[in-house]
Amino acid sequence: MSKHEEAQRWLDLGVQASNADQQPQAEQAFLRALALDPDLVDARLGLGLTYMATRRFAQAVEPLRLAASSPDAPGFWSACLAQSLYMSGDFAGSAEAFEQAARVEPLGDNARATLIQTRCLAEMIGGGVESALEHYQAASGCDDDGLAVFAEEASAILAVFGHVGAAAQVERWRQVRAPEDRITAYRLNALEGAAVDRAPADYVAAHFDAFAERFDHQLVEMLGYSGPADLIALLLPHRSRFDRVLDLGCGTGLAVPVLAPLGGAVTGVDLSSGMLARAAARGGYEALVQAEALTFLAEHPTTFDLVFAADVLIYFGDMTAVFAAAARALRPGGYFVFSTERGEADWTLLSSGRFAHGDAYIDRLAAPTFALKARASTRLRQEGRDQVEGTLHILSRL
Ligand SMILES: C[S@@+](CC[C@H](N)C(=O)[O-])C[C@H]1O[C@@H](n2cnc3c(N)ncnc32)[C@H](O)[C@@H]1O
Repeated sequence: MSKHEEAQRWLDLGVQASNADQQPQAEQAFLRALALDPDLVDARLGLGLTYMATRRFAQAVEPLRLAASSPDAPGFWSACLAQSLYMSGDFAGSAEAFEQAARVEPLGDNARATLIQTRCLAEMIGGGVESALEHYQAASGCDDDGLAVFAEEASAILAVFGHVGAAAQVERWRQVRAPEDRITAYRLNALEGAAVDRAPADYVAAHFDAFAERFDHQLVEMLGYSGPADLIALLLPHRSRFDRVLDLGCGTGLAVPVLAPLGGAVTGVDLSSGMLARAAARGGYEALVQAEALTFLAEHPTTFDLVFAADVLIYFGDMTAVFAAAARALRPGGYFVFSTERGEADWTLLSSGRFAHGDAYIDRLAAPTFALKARASTRLRQEGRDQVEGTLHILSRL
């Protein structure tokens, strides 16, 4: 078999694996094909699509760029490149690639909508937030409400990719139009590094009410979130049976499948009625309560064997009151199990509006009342180009 034929055989195997959604096998097969024949354009495309399918968008850019620049490349290949550039935060590059795709064949509705967005984001980064939004409205034909929804999304995307100044400008634009909006007020604080020590309850409720419908899809399928299962895996070697379990900041109830097997009744508490409605639809809770976490803990002294908080304490900066409240609500020997985003200082407000904490700070707060049973580093979820580094903590009440 000639080198070219062998490369072609690996390409066919890659396509088969890719069609069967066996991405690791597809990746290996395309790489072998390219090692034998670097000019095999279809293998470049296959490799790029495999990276896209596994959400490695930055890695997808190079093979897709090579494939899309080959003679007679269909417009779809440039559109894939454009999508990968968008997901990697290169909005100007993405717009250029969409425009290249449009020169070859008309863009579909989704691609056209993304082109309008990516042009707007690139213009915002260049400093023209006001004019970028005017251009967005003219190109998309959306009404003022649609423009406000896009502006909120744009500010979050810009912050995720580190364009904090542009994101703050968008929030100021939003604040002029909706001075009472709690989400805007807090996001501006976060983007400007204001001295706040926790996310206010009205922000948390408004933010998660708006997010509730998309939460499960976005967190689990798009961002690779597995916080509850990771915490339970770290807890089980220490204790596996709990009579009364509190899922603090239960959200849509993603934790209930791993909390229910602990054998006890599970109570879920959350500020957001939208998130609680989804937790109720999922089922598995003995009770679901709409309440602020610290208030609820204070009202339930010596009640729970496990206080479980997955991806929740990231909305508190100063955790002194959290530790005191958890210690009070736990029965003797009970467990306090939670995740944090990794920081160096005691606590830091991030441009995302969440907080990062240092492990030494957690140790200091825990020392008088809790024993550290286990701790592990983790990747909490994908954010922009990066993985958010976090820590899982398993403490027991002394
Ligand atoms: C990122 S979600 C995590 C949800 C769930 N624990 C999970 O792992 O899927 C954070 C949840 O915590 C809730 N939350 C944040 N701060 C809170 C507070 N102070 N009191 C009650 N709930 C809070 C939010 O409403 C939201 O539903």
